[in-house]
Amino acid sequence: GWNMEDVMEEEIKVINDTVGPDEHVICALSGGVDSTVAATLVHKAIGSRLHCVFVDNGLLRYKERERVMETFEKDLHLPVVCIDAVDQFLTKLKGVTDPETKRKIIGKEFICIFDAFAQELESKMGKKPAYLVQGTLYPDVIESCPPPGSGRTHSHTIKSHHNVGGLPKDMKLKLIEPLKLLFKDEVRQLGKFLDVPEAFLKRHPFPGPGLAVRVLGDVTEGNALDILRQVDEIFIQSIKDAGLYDSIWQAFAVFLPVRSVGVQGDQRTHSHVVALRAVTSQDGMTADWYYFEHKFLDDVARKICNGVRGVNRVVQDITSKPPSTIEWE
Ligand code: XMP
Repeated sequence: GWNMEDVMEEEIKVINDTVGPDEHVICALSGGVDSTVAATLVHKAIGSRLHCVFVDNGLLRYKERERVMETFEKDLHLPVVCIDAVDQFLTKLKGVTDPETKRKIIGKEFICIFDAFAQELESKMGKKPAYLVQGTLYPDVIESCPPPGSGRTHSHTIKSHHNVGGLPKDMKLKLIEPLKLLFKDEVRQLGKFLDVPEAFLKRHPFPGPGLAVRVLGDVTEGNALDILRQVDEIFIQSIKDAGLYDSIWQAFAVFLPVRSVGVQGDQRTHSHVVALRAVTSQDGMTADWYYFEHKFLDDVARKICNGVRGVNRVVQDITSKPPSTIEWE
């Protein structure tokens, strides 16, 4: 293990040696641990010459935008612009059911918005931003052997990462990747040093395409996204209340595009089915489904059916990876 105080000082020095005194840097914040820690580190080095953007694509979890913006602004004092692109994304996703097509559309829209952000910054400052911060980690960059001189000797399984390579090619921005020699647990330690709140550092991973891969089929159908957000929040809050959050790699709800018959009060209902997914894992490459106590599951199912209009059935996903994947799409 490395001493995170040394890592922090070394990285700040590298950033200051790299970025010229009147050069500007941009960063897209996802709300995840890696981009947040990377941005916080760069901010510590160059201050207000860092410009961050957070995009609300309409596919975020319950109150996610408010929650992460509060952390960025109040806890971390990051200079961040929040762009409301909900309509833009959902219009493009209307009628789309193929999972990979959804991912492509979302990736493309994101680049459009990021491009516009960079252009606007340029016209405001009369100068192009020169650098882009990315929260790339060590497992994302290594192929078969560690970079020469990195001091790393681990042999580590190759992981093809969803976040690598999805940025504008014609933007001519140079990359700053201050976490590229670190593993996830080291990023968390570094984050602690930078006063990123502990609860934030322990957040479960969340996919870039967001709830689009958790609403099966057309995400714009009915109020699927809204129902999913409410169900997911009840599930996650129950997991936190039971003290189980940190023992689980990832937990979430999935909206199924099917209806089933139920009875609520003396009314026959024909409402939605939602699935609960929780897994343990080391790196997301393989995963085991998580064993909840029956009492816990019973409470959650009741809370969901009582609390969320339009849901009358809750099922649990009891498959591991392989043969399933963690996400359903
Ligand atoms: P799967 O579903 O492939 O997921 O078992 C493994 C891990 O990757 C996350 N995931 C994604 N992350 N963009 C991302 O940024 C994606 O398109 C994507 N698909 C899956 C998933 O949440 C899990 O942590």
